[in-house]
Amino acid sequence: MGEIEHEYIHKNGPIIIEPMVEADIYAVAAIELESFKDPWPLESFRTELLYNQLASYYVARINGVVVAYIGAWSILDEVHITTLAVEKKYRRQGIASLLLETLFVYMHKQGARYLTLEVRPSNRAARNFYEKYGFKVYGHRKKYYVDEDALIMTKDDLNYTV
Ligand SMILES: CC(C)(COP(=O)(O)OP(=O)(O)OC[C@H]1O[C@@H](n2cnc3c(N)ncnc32)[C@H](O)[C@@H]1OP(=O)(O)O)[C@@H](O)C(=O)NCCC(=O)NCCS
Repeated sequence: MGEIEHEYIHKNGPIIIEPMVEADIYAVAAIELESFKDPWPLESFRTELLYNQLASYYVARINGVVVAYIGAWSILDEVHITTLAVEKKYRRQGIASLLLETLFVYMHKQGARYLTLEVRPSNRAARNFYEKYGFKVYGHRKKYYVDEDALIMTKDDLNYTV
């Protein structure tokens, strides 16, 4: 788990980005529920935090309240983004961008060079978001979601040294 803590300014107060802790998972699971058709159950977040040595999870807080989160697994020089979501009322305010850039910086310091993720082809917002950061469609995973294939997106030029 990374040691990074960042502070940015939002109209409602500073946005703090820091590693997710067990006490955050109820708020995280609530955002997950409003964000995905096939949300991870709360227990999956607990297992990730407590037992997965390869996992890094960050939250963004405003006035102490979790408004967004991102998660990734790192395997040698590759990072796989497992989840990213922003509470609905905080979307289009740059918060996912802050989380992704924080992950880029941390993972680059750890020696990562490649990022991958799966996204629903129908998720236009997420596809635009990742494309803005230089992710490209690399392939498909058939029936990855019960009702839809997944697009595999990758970014192979991670070079964040902020
Ligand atoms: C995808 C998601 C994480 C984006 O979070 P966000 O905080 O709103 O994103 P940002 O404000 O940082 O947006 C950065 C850029 O991404 C793109 N983008 C974000 N949301 C978009 C939307 N609804 N439609 C089109 N482009 C979008 C834009 O290029 C945007 O830049 P701009 O606002 O200057 O135009 C958010 O919509 C979300 O939580 N969705 C539900 C969960 C999800 O789909 N997660 C991704 C799973 S793979």
